[in-house]
Amino acid sequence: MPSVYIKTYGCQMNERDSEAVAAQLVAKGYRLAPSEHVADVVLLNTCSVRDNAEQKAINKMENIAGAIRKDRPNVVLGFLGCMAQSRGQELIDRLPDVDLVIGTQKFHRAADYLDEIFAGKRDKIVDIAEEQGSEGTIREHLLNGNARDKSVTAFVSIMQGCNQYCTFCIVPYTRGEERSRSIADIVGECRQLVSHGVKEITLLGQIVTSYGRREKRDAWRGTSDVNRAFPSPVTRHPSPASAFVQLLEAVHEIDGLQRIRFTSPHPKGYGDDLVEAYARLPKLVESAHLPVQSGSDRVLKLMHRGYTRARYVEIIRKLRAARPGIGITSDIIVGFPGETDADFAETLSLCREVEFDNAYLFKYSQRKDTPAAAMPDQLPEELIEERHARLLALVNEIGKRKYETFIGRQMQILVEGPSKRNPVRMTGRTRCNKLVLLDGSERHRGQLMDVKITRTGSFTLYGDPAVVGFEDEK
Ligand code: 5AD
Repeated sequence: MPSVYIKTYGCQMNERDSEAVAAQLVAKGYRLAPSEHVADVVLLNTCSVRDNAEQKAINKMENIAGAIRKDRPNVVLGFLGCMAQSRGQELIDRLPDVDLVIGTQKFHRAADYLDEIFAGKRDKIVDIAEEQGSEGTIREHLLNGNARDKSVTAFVSIMQGCNQYCTFCIVPYTRGEERSRSIADIVGECRQLVSHGVKEITLLGQIVTSYGRREKRDAWRGTSDVNRAFPSPVTRHPSPASAFVQLLEAVHEIDGLQRIRFTSPHPKGYGDDLVEAYARLPKLVESAHLPVQSGSDRVLKLMHRGYTRARYVEIIRKLRAARPGIGITSDIIVGFPGETDADFAETLSLCREVEFDNAYLFKYSQRKDTPAAAMPDQLPEELIEERHARLLALVNEIGKRKYETFIGRQMQILVEGPSKRNPVRMTGRTRCNKLVLLDGSERHRGQLMDVKITRTGSFTLYGDPAVVGFEDEK
């Protein structure tokens, strides 16, 4: 059978989609290749959120087509995901070496389409149609039972699409309308992962706090089996919680699961029921990635974000009250059209006020057909660069100070596996989502360990496990 190499650009949703495609192909007998140079099929799973992400994937495909196809003319080349969805046939017109373009609702057809191409039945395939029920098709995982590759953490897709229509964002057009899987379906997948040794699950969606909002007649609840299985006395909620909180409760019930994360929520969806869930559900770790995008009310309004700076700050205050020490990260866009010096100063002051553990900064990028692309006062690149550098310096300074406060403290980590950069070290994460490097070995993989933090690196902590005992030795 042919071998396949999938390269992923962009967010965790894309990582998850690629894994599901890889698992689907492995189930059909394909082998996974370690690089594009030795693969019979090369698939690029693309991102459209900023122009440079698109350019990277296009350049990569040009290089592959030039270098690899020359020596091995039968290699099959394909684009998957968001840019495939938004550009479709245009990608083949521009890069005639490309054989396959699969949109965001058709990942599950990858194996069929490759079969057709290998069988010579079809030459080029473009499928970017909508598909009913596609939110339930990202479910396969690479759980091959190989001890060295055993995953401790896993991502589970709970929904697809976005209805927020932030004026800068292409996602509603590449991912379509919000559609949620049922709790029964999601819990079933989580249970299976846990039975394979997974200890930590991250629930994924474009806006997870909108989970279940658009399903007719509470279809997100799923079968009555799950409803009978929860809520238990531990998770019982005093008043009707949102669908998302009910999903958290149901996942929380899974025996053997140690930690629950989710990404990304929208500040608009951070109701008191969710804040309260942090206080009530011990497996829900004290960590939140809460994209703010700007500190200026005027810009937030132009962005169509649906909250004010004051409301955002209030949510953070409530979260910190519910879970002291909660790690808070954010996304911020620099240089949105019309952003004045005063607006930018508001973003700087918000960062000083909230003190994010870290924030991902994005230079505003005009996206096709989004309302912001047609707004007046698009800012010059130099100004965006300059503001980006200033904000980055501030975010780094605050982050460094925060990370230094961990030195000398004892923290619980879940050991995930060897560090990619330095395989003699193991990596783990604290509950508040800090990466910790430690001198450990394979036998620590999957363990919850208490370590003492000895020093910091750039957004990294170094832990010493020798100081305290391991969980299994207590
Ligand atoms: N330009 C720059 N950044 C963007 N993001 C989304 N759209 C754009 C854009 N047009 C950022 C937002 C979002 C993150 C995933 O990408 O900050 O939270």
